Amino acid sequence: MKQQQLNETVAFLKSAGIKNPKIGIVLGTGLGKLVDEIAIEKEIAYAEIPNFPQATVEFHSGKLIYGELSGKKVLVMAGRFHKYEGYDLWEVTYGIRTMHALGIQNLLISNAAGAINLSYKKGTLMLIEDHINLQGDSPLAFKGANVFGNIFADMLAPYSKEINQKIKTIALENNILLHEGIYTSVVGPQLETRAEYRMLQILETDAVGMSTVPEVIVAKQLNLPCAAISVLTDECDPKNLQPVDISEIIAIAGKAEPKMILLFKELIKII
Ligand code: HPA
Repeated sequence: MKQQQLNETVAFLKSAGIKNPKIGIVLGTGLGKLVDEIAIEKEIAYAEIPNFPQATVEFHSGKLIYGELSGKKVLVMAGRFHKYEGYDLWEVTYGIRTMHALGIQNLLISNAAGAINLSYKKGTLMLIEDHINLQGDSPLAFKGANVFGNIFADMLAPYSKEINQKIKTIALENNILLHEGIYTSVVGPQLETRAEYRMLQILETDAVGMSTVPEVIVAKQLNLPCAAISVLTDECDPKNLQPVDISEIIAIAGKAEPKMILLFKELIKII
């Protein structure tokens, strides 16, 4: 049933001209400008793709973009799906399974996140080195999930050490401050209480957000090497918590975006 759904989606996209993409990219909140750097060959709204979930959050445009970036064929999800929009985790990760079935060999993810580690300032980038899943759910927990791969996927290294090393080198060469750390995913969409931020500090996570982890778990089931970078958009200090405004989060993500774009573009040249 689910396999058939996916087959239909993939057959449609192949017939629409999406052939052999090498790298899949998921663009997070306020991080859509990478698309301007792509020599676009095909742009397909999620609404036109059979069985594809529809993006509901207004600042996510919701389209799949295929083209060339840094000399490689890339497939970009401009707009992702979150559990907080009311999707189940199969739907949240449907795009990852679709891109994998179309042949991507690496997955690059971006997101906006709050800084729990208070030495990491807003507007800086963090390379995700490990994660904590606080969404209370798994994208591999459904009947028949083993058709797609091992559901007992090990999580020893959910983020490719090899790709991360390349990203760190690029950051160093380009004078980009790139923190490294642990990302915790929560459901949202409300932000956290002071008590929850204190809990996250005790958990020794460095950042918190509402995405990415389900996508990475699916990539792991599919043996798809992946890397993820957070833009830290706010500082989550429980002793001095400021009201967070989603438009400010988007604005800060936008300011950090050129650094993210540079890292992705340079990386794509060498993977
Ligand atoms: N919490 C959860 N998600 C977020 C935050 C935050 O503080 N900032 C950006 N995304």
